[in-house]
Amino acid sequence: MADVLVLNGPNLARLGSREPDVYGAADHDALVAAVAGWGRTYRLSVEVRQSDDESELIGWLHEAVDTGCDVVLNPAAFTHYSYALRDAARLVTAAGRTLVEVHLSNPAAREEFRHTSVIAGVATGTVAGFGFDSYRLALDAIAGRRGE
Ligand code: DQA
Repeated sequence: MADVLVLNGPNLARLGSREPDVYGAADHDALVAAVAGWGRTYRLSVEVRQSDDESELIGWLHEAVDTGCDVVLNPAAFTHYSYALRDAARLVTAAGRTLVEVHLSNPAAREEFRHTSVIAGVATGTVAGFGFDSYRLALDAIAGRRGE
């Protein structure tokens, strides 16, 4: 069983070819490899999943509640409007688990519609704007909280 589920939302499987000026030239497999390496550094068992499907992401958040995992969540565009994902994310933090919202880019510095996150208010915290390193910073925060 994983200590941490890293969940990536819609269009993140297209990393590498999708707006590389915004999201970088490295692809999703490279992100998975980087996260696996950081998992070893922080001695966390980490599993990375990606889905374009809101209901699948919600199911994975329910799984985190049921199995007691912490979560790193990049909700992608669902960040800005999915109350269903928000409610599922709240279940994770209400269960006493850590949920870190992450973004590769800094949505606050982009188009107006990206300035709203409906997830942020139920997340433990948010890391945005550091590319792949946003995930490392999220894992660092989780490792620190688990070690407390
Ligand atoms: C994103 C930012 C979102 O606004 C966007 O819809 C994404 C990626 C990011 O990681 O920077 O798909 O979550």
